[in-house]
Amino acid sequence: MKLNVNLPTPYDIVIEKGALAKAGDWVATLWQPQKIAIITDNRVGSLYAETVKLSLENAGFEAIVFDFLEGEASKNLKTVNKAYEFLVKHEMTRSDGIVALGGGVVGDLAGFVASTYMRGIHFLQIPTSLTAQVDSSIGGKTGVNTSFAKNMVGTFTQPDGVLIDPETLQTLGKRELIEGMGEVIKYGLIDDVELWEELSAMDGSPESILAHAESIIYRSCNVKRKVVVEDELDNGVRLYLNFGHTIGHAIEATAGYGKVMHGEAVAIGMVQISRVAEKKGLMPQGITQAIENMCQKFGLPTDYQPWQVDELYNALKHDKKARGHMIKTVIVPELGRAAINQIPLEEMKAYLEK
Ligand SMILES: NC(=O)c1ccc[n+]([C@@H]2O[C@H](COP(=O)([O-])OP(=O)(O)OC[C@H]3O[C@@H](n4cnc5c(N)ncnc54)[C@H](O)[C@@H]3O)[C@@H](O)[C@H]2O)c1
Repeated sequence: MKLNVNLPTPYDIVIEKGALAKAGDWVATLWQPQKIAIITDNRVGSLYAETVKLSLENAGFEAIVFDFLEGEASKNLKTVNKAYEFLVKHEMTRSDGIVALGGGVVGDLAGFVASTYMRGIHFLQIPTSLTAQVDSSIGGKTGVNTSFAKNMVGTFTQPDGVLIDPETLQTLGKRELIEGMGEVIKYGLIDDVELWEELSAMDGSPESILAHAESIIYRSCNVKRKVVVEDELDNGVRLYLNFGHTIGHAIEATAGYGKVMHGEAVAIGMVQISRVAEKKGLMPQGITQAIENMCQKFGLPTDYQPWQVDELYNALKHDKKARGHMIKTVIVPELGRAAINQIPLEEMKAYLEK
């Protein structure tokens, strides 16, 4: 299965079971023989780097591997600097390339390294977590965290291609797999009723996610691709992708980063903002319940603790989308369609208090 991200410099997203072992052939359709640095983390690297390296070498490339300790804590400028040192040591030039092999942390960091090393060298994404396969590998947002904020330093730089092997999900932790479903459910809600129906027909078990992986990844990537093509630099409809994220980000921040995973927080955010919108008459009755049922079926949380309300309110006040007394939020007035609404912050607080 293939999708084209039709930007001024277009690229393809290829989704194929077993693709990892044939990565070299795919890269050879995009790049001339050259040196390639595979950037990965220690967990993904120990599982898949050798397969990708061998495949690249068989296709005529020289491949070297740089890995760093897995996890969000490594997504910083220190790791970026280590990567630069590695690239310099191996005399990587602007005619060489980088392959990001891993989850969203690897993809964001390797993309940032590629877009800044020698003012930018070519790179490819081979995402291995569900979050990375349906979200972070597409759209060109690269970056790392600083001590001030998450994803504070970054660029908009598109890869030359994205290769997705759904079979890699078999080694992903159960919680990480379920977490990725938060974004998948979101895509169905904001843009793709058929995806929503496919999810409705599944029993919600991790086995069912793996069995449907190819098709739900394809449909999710298609939604993300469409939105990115319309609004590459995030000034308009790309905001739709933020459904559930306003409250979600506040949940992540108040719980302490890492305690509630991003996709889990998005699930809570989607249900809670829909509840607010339903109470305000902006969404018809029933959609919130349907979202809640869907999230719970896949094992995602949908509620927060009463003690979190004040902290949530404070986090919302400081959200990028808050302007004066209003906050811009995405709602779903009908399944498969998103819209943007302004809600007064005080009203939001009253609704959150239930
Ligand atoms: N650029 C964007 O548009 C965008 C969008 C969404 C999220 N993100 C970023 O993505 C990151 C989250 O991504 P993530 O959830 O993939 O986190 P991650 O990269 O930390 O991966 C989660 C864990 O799963 C492991 N892993 C990944 N693939 C595996 C596999 N196939 N088998 C076994 N283990 C595997 C990793 O080693 C890690 O321990 C965050 O930093 C977030 O900011 C970026």
